[in-house]
Amino acid sequence: MKLDNAQLAEWDKEYVWHPFTQMQTWNAADTLIIERGEGCYLIDVLGNRYLDGTSSLWVTVHGHAHPILTQAIKDQVDKIAHSTLLGLANVPSIQLAKKLVEITPSGLTKVFYSDAGATAVEIALKIAFQYWQQHIDPQQRKKKKFISLEKAYHGDTVGTISVGGKGSVYTTYQDLLFEGYRVPSPYCYRCPLGHEQNQCKFACLQVVDDIMAEHHQEISAMIIEPLVQGAAGMIMAPVGYLKKIRELCIKYNILMIADEVAVGFGRTGTLFACEQEEVNPDIMCLAKGLTGGYLPLAATLTTETIYQAFLGETRECKTFFHGHTFTGNPVGCAVALANIEVIEQTQLIQHIQDLAQILSSGLEKFKSLSHVGNIRQRGLMVGIELVRNKQTKEPYTLEETIGHQVISEARRHGLIIRPSGNVIVLMPVLAISEDQLQQVISITYEAIKNVTEGSGNEQE
Ligand SMILES: Cc1ncc(COP(=O)(O)O)c(C=O)c1O
Repeated sequence: MKLDNAQLAEWDKEYVWHPFTQMQTWNAADTLIIERGEGCYLIDVLGNRYLDGTSSLWVTVHGHAHPILTQAIKDQVDKIAHSTLLGLANVPSIQLAKKLVEITPSGLTKVFYSDAGATAVEIALKIAFQYWQQHIDPQQRKKKKFISLEKAYHGDTVGTISVGGKGSVYTTYQDLLFEGYRVPSPYCYRCPLGHEQNQCKFACLQVVDDIMAEHHQEISAMIIEPLVQGAAGMIMAPVGYLKKIRELCIKYNILMIADEVAVGFGRTGTLFACEQEEVNPDIMCLAKGLTGGYLPLAATLTTETIYQAFLGETRECKTFFHGHTFTGNPVGCAVALANIEVIEQTQLIQHIQDLAQILSSGLEKFKSLSHVGNIRQRGLMVGIELVRNKQTKEPYTLEETIGHQVISEARRHGLIIRPSGNVIVLMPVLAISEDQLQQVISITYEAIKNVTEGSGNEQE
């Protein structure tokens, strides 16, 4: 049946409430409706092809409609689509847990499944909290709070917003949230402590040290997005920052939760971002790329020490009280296994590292654009911060919607990307070819140039 684009657009506006979207604006605009995917391309109902420069919200690893991943789903559905992990086990969830323990940083030995990045983080927070509550030393049971970074993003549930940055989402739901400690993000381009890049001697880490020194008796865990704070606008921690955070957590007996939801599965150039600084966290959260972007599946991994603290007689109430209906869904686990197999077989990590260098060279010329203030890159993760004035770093105002103008221009030239405020974010599909990557670079360059240097937008 031929799909009617106009009819679908009308029904979309009539029936669908889109995430993180002001629907009044949405309803007044044209709707791009995707019908299929092919490798790195998204194809709309009218047959137009777009390069997927966001990896469909940072999830796509090998590309859309990949035959091996699709087949893994079909094969599993032929056997069974779902059976519960409450009181039963299923084959792919066992195999995947074993595989995840093998490939994640050493020390992580147990896997707790859920279905989104936010649920993986909620689970991590609850595990960390309960771990200390069950500690044999009553003094340790005072550890109930969390430390997070000022510009953190860990999801949209009440728990994850509670440890998230204090932006408008936090303000809106503030009365629902629990309190914790926040430390400055390592946002070196606009250092929150006012230091010059490379001359700060990690002053922001001193703040972490100070807060931990004063409050460690009441802090259960520190949660961090290793190497890159994605949703904050691709804020990239300087080399050594993550390792130092790990050392501070150990020094003050605070658990470390690594939220690898965005950075995991190769995005930063290693399978997991923690590897780059030889960090072994106590808890690790995975989602997004876990299934190669095919199905919603998440995993929270913990150390044996944490797991052991939950063992006891039923009457002791040490059970971890958490479980979603689709926890450990066999189809999700089967495609995650296929995803990892293809990562290994195609030597995807090497491919990402090679492409990261090409990307890095391609981004060089952006530096000469009058309104590009800062370019940040780790692996195939890029943030290009646009500024009204390059010398003073004066930002564009929200009302100028500069990011949205740039992505609309890119879309007209066949590339789908998304901004984070004034930061243009590039998250190409990890298996993208060199030619396609060059297209992503050149369309983005032209879009930024046309929008920011076009008439009325000249450098002031
Ligand atoms: C670091 C990080 N953690 C958690 C999440 C939340 O994941 P989800 O949207 O699957 O709930 C995200 C989403 O972008 C993320 O970037």
